[in-house]
Amino acid sequence: MDAFSARPATLKLKNLDDPVHLYIIQDVHLGERGCREDFLAEVVAEIAQDRRAVWYGNGDYGAYMAPDDKRFRADEVSERFAIADLARWGDTLTEAFVDAVAPIRDKCLGLGSGNHEDVYGKRNNCNPTYDIAAGLHVPHTDYVTAFDLRMVPRTGKPKTLSVLAHHGFGSAVTPQGKLAALGKLAGLTTARLCLMGHSHGRADYEFCRVENQNGKIRHVPQYAVLGGSVVQTYVRGPSNYAQRRAMPPFRPGVAKILIHPRTLEMTTEWLMASGV
Ligand SMILES: [Fe+2]
Repeated sequence: MDAFSARPATLKLKNLDDPVHLYIIQDVHLGERGCREDFLAEVVAEIAQDRRAVWYGNGDYGAYMAPDDKRFRADEVSERFAIADLARWGDTLTEAFVDAVAPIRDKCLGLGSGNHEDVYGKRNNCNPTYDIAAGLHVPHTDYVTAFDLRMVPRTGKPKTLSVLAHHGFGSAVTPQGKLAALGKLAGLTTARLCLMGHSHGRADYEFCRVENQNGKIRHVPQYAVLGGSVVQTYVRGPSNYAQRRAMPPFRPGVAKILIHPRTLEMTTEWLMASGV
């Protein structure tokens, strides 16, 4: 599935009252001391046992900043990695993420890129997202991706949910800034579901457009989700990049979007990391 692919992801359902649970895994930052790998394992276990589950990867799977990157700080690297791992840091992170989510690869709709994969790929003439997707045998998408989620009941007509997934942009820090960014994203598209990451917050909001459809006034909802993070900003030890910039703390959480196929109504529950 390429960026702006017309090729839909297809889900087979018993009927259109069978809800779909769409989990968003993003901003994992494997390799950083703040990455909650224990929480990621809990999320993977939850998705594995949820028969209604599918998931989408929305970027920043690893902290792809190698020692030759001016942003690299040795004291920000997770202690579970060895010094020798830095000699092939990108591949090390790619393999670690593939291992972490391999148990749920058959439920993955696709993997988009984040700024970490994007910048590392440009500097090193490679594409970590493609490598992760190849390791999992799942579709790769891109930094910005539009796709259709086609839900097919055993009998009757299928229902299609249009999705725009964007890793994120800018540096929205305040709650108001995050809502404004979600609104900006929703304003780009008529997709019914908009997904965003990057700013490590948790939010969902239903925007609405009014349309004249064959003489009838219709209110068309657009559901936008800032889908949380697996990385935790504030951890014991030397200060990290986010702490030095006084970025606000966020409890790591993963969005579980409940989709009602018949009506396309959506709400979000949050899986939350413990011990924060
Ligand atoms: Fe990001």
